[in-house]
Amino acid sequence: MHAVGIVPAAGSGLRLGADQPKALVSLGGRPLVRWAVDALRSGGVADVIVAVPAGRRDAFEAVLPADVRLVEGGMTRTASVRAALAAAGSSADAVLVHDAARPLTPPDVVARVLAALAAGARAVVPVLPVVDTTVVVDADGVINHDVPRAPLRRVQTPQGFDRATLADAYARLDDTAELTDDAAVVRADGVLVTTVDGDERSVKVTVAHDLALAELQVSTVRR
Ligand code: CTP
Ligand code: MG
Repeated sequence: MHAVGIVPAAGSGLRLGADQPKALVSLGGRPLVRWAVDALRSGGVADVIVAVPAGRRDAFEAVLPADVRLVEGGMTRTASVRAALAAAGSSADAVLVHDAARPLTPPDVVARVLAALAAGARAVVPVLPVVDTTVVVDADGVINHDVPRAPLRRVQTPQGFDRATLADAYARLDDTAELTDDAAVVRADGVLVTTVDGDERSVKVTVAHDLALAELQVSTVRR
């Protein structure tokens, strides 16, 4: 099975509030995008395409291995993945899409996704249980009802797909659609998405606190 990795890294990182694109922000001396690419490679995905913000190709080239391919991303994550998928062509059998915003994903998670694809899954995502009591509130913030959390899962990346299945789903998706992950894209096309265990260390860096925790994680491992 030949798998290609796609790393959407073309976001600006508004919620993090850094003075550069989030994917270039440093964690333990390495930009987030480099961590994400290395995570895919350590897990067994050698061929990687990164979607970068328009006009920032040089900055990304400078921090990534020379054999990583770069494409210009779009205005939304959906558009960025679409651009990278087009660049992937049709030679790979499988695609793993992994957010640049998840730097510390252990290689085991990548390996579990690859194993599920090799076993025949058309779409697979790493997930974790929900541990907090979870409720639905009304417009005033008053609790309306609680949600049984046993069947709930938090979805992570890398998300793995049969390449043709993902490409077909993107081809049929409305150009203006904005979905937050790729499992939603194939589900919109009627594809069943299976799950494997995610990992608590594979957190997404969204706000400054997430980056501070990731720094702590990196320094603890190094000590
Ligand atoms: N992404 C992308 N192209 C976009 C928007 C997002 O490739 N137009 C990527 C981001 O770079 C990130 C991933 O999608 O790796 C998940 O998005 P998110 O965490 O929301 O990152 P940002 O959109 O950059 O952050 P924010 O929403 O806070 O601006
Ligand atoms: Mg975003």
